[in-house]
Amino acid sequence: MSPVQAATLLWPLLLLLGLGAAGEGAPGETSFYYGTFPPGFSWGVGSSAFQTEGAWNQDGKGPSIWDAFTHSSKRQVLGEETADSACNGYFMAQEDVLLLRELRACHYRFSLSWPRLLPTGVRAEQVNEKGIKFYSDLIDALLRSNVTPIVTLHHWDLPQLLQGRFGGWQNASMASYFRDYADLCFEAFGDRVKHWITFSDPRTMVEKGYETGEHAPGLQLRGTGLYQAAHHILKAHAQAWHAYDSRWRSRQHGLVGISLNCDWGEPVDINDPSDIEAAERYLQFCLGWFANPIYAGDYPQVMKDRIGRKSTEQGLDLSRLPAFSRQEKRYIKGTSDFLGLGHFTTRYVTEQSHPSRRGPSYQDDRDLVELVDPNWLALGSQGLCSAAWGFRRLLHFAQIQYGNPPIYVTENGAAQKLHCTQLCDEWRIQYLKEYINEMLKALKDGANVKGYTCWSLLDKFEWEKGYADRYGLYHVDFTVRSKPRYPKASAHFYKKIIAANGFPGPREVQSWHQEALETCSVNNQLRAAEPLLDHLHLASEIAVPTVCALCVLIAALLLTLLLRSPH
Ligand SMILES: *[C@@H]1O[C@H](CO)[C@@H](O)[C@H](O)[C@H]1NC(C)=O
Repeated sequence: MSPVQAATLLWPLLLLLGLGAAGEGAPGETSFYYGTFPPGFSWGVGSSAFQTEGAWNQDGKGPSIWDAFTHSSKRQVLGEETADSACNGYFMAQEDVLLLRELRACHYRFSLSWPRLLPTGVRAEQVNEKGIKFYSDLIDALLRSNVTPIVTLHHWDLPQLLQGRFGGWQNASMASYFRDYADLCFEAFGDRVKHWITFSDPRTMVEKGYETGEHAPGLQLRGTGLYQAAHHILKAHAQAWHAYDSRWRSRQHGLVGISLNCDWGEPVDINDPSDIEAAERYLQFCLGWFANPIYAGDYPQVMKDRIGRKSTEQGLDLSRLPAFSRQEKRYIKGTSDFLGLGHFTTRYVTEQSHPSRRGPSYQDDRDLVELVDPNWLALGSQGLCSAAWGFRRLLHFAQIQYGNPPIYVTENGAAQKLHCTQLCDEWRIQYLKEYINEMLKALKDGANVKGYTCWSLLDKFEWEKGYADRYGLYHVDFTVRSKPRYPKASAHFYKKIIAANGFPGPREVQSWHQEALETCSVNNQLRAAEPLLDHLHLASEIAVPTVCALCVLIAALLLTLLLRSPH
């Protein structure tokens, strides 16, 4: 038989096998998929320096733009909150490592505070040894507990002096300050840290920091500032990656990537080509803006076209979207050893029907309308979870667009509102169950997902929301000076997923759910009883000496009476 004949004969067989595999292996859209993750899949939790550490001016730390922003008289943060003490994390690092142990987390994703390590932001000026020691001790404690550190270099807290002196990310020279800072971190911690994230969610950072002004540094340079800042961030990222690649990789054998956040954009009408285009544009302006230069060497075509055309219409000679030189494109392309993805929810997207007249802006450049299913808005409702399918689609999109990169999910979770102080967060259990399940389906589809990070370990400072949104698996009582932590039901549930490496079967998952709710109601009662216990304590403190004093008095009285009585 000739090889051609063999192939012809084999074809139908292969086809059958292929179809069989697809029919059996591809999990359904709506049904829950029971199964486990590949061995070695990394389960973790995340946090960031500014949101948790506090100790904003202690042990030699310099101010960050977020210290300046929260202290400014403009009062842009809900409740005029600051993160001066936040979760008291700087002083409770060892306790928090115990929580990670309790969860049996494989990794902990946290960020380094640039101004804690370099108070002025500039390496050549001053290095804060106490800052180095703080993170070094934390890393050691994690490794002793078998928790892999995944370290973010920059999670929004730029040293204030770099902002004040040089204009922060508006200035192209930020890239080399960042590279010097990154290089210091590789040198100081790279013997123990093998997973580095250069930037966390740079899109939100530049959109809220340089366009809407809701975040530090609070600038409103509409339609220009955010593109400039992003341009410099991409160059800074590439410089840090190259610094690692040329100086440290051969000795330290680690990975350097970036973490990008994006919700899924679903066309409102999947039969309307303009909605399909709008949804694609949503994703390109969100994820592609940063991922495309790194994976394909340039900004997405749709961004270049749109922003270029609008800039011309607005009478500008140059596009508001800066351009990379050929050399820069080559330098930036391929600078991520893995893709970090943060994801929280889904948006329905449709074409903007009337042009906006508010002048140049990111919103105007995208020209689309985002909608949500009204059921998703009510937090704590089951409806929130019905958007979990968007997670599978986003992972698939990243797989296809960027050449199947290794993916670490760096953020996924859900917030509850301030007043929700109870520990029985059943709806968060539901959220995690659904989202993690959709991630499992994406893995079965072929996405190369290596790890998952639940956002987040603790309730913490939520930027412009102050302490009003709570994302933690552990509840933090911010009204008490020592900021005590209490496990929520979701902590118990997540711990079970970690231990089983997925969802072995309906019986197990059902019993975890039950157990989690039982534990939390016990914890809730304990926590509710705490003020009462304090009361009892107080009572005993007063009562015991009082009773003693009374006894002595009565004894003295009796003695006097006895002595006075005749015989
Ligand atoms: C940018 O930073 C450099 C220092 O690195 C400084 O000399 C320059 O003045 C800054 N440019 C602006 C516009 O602030």
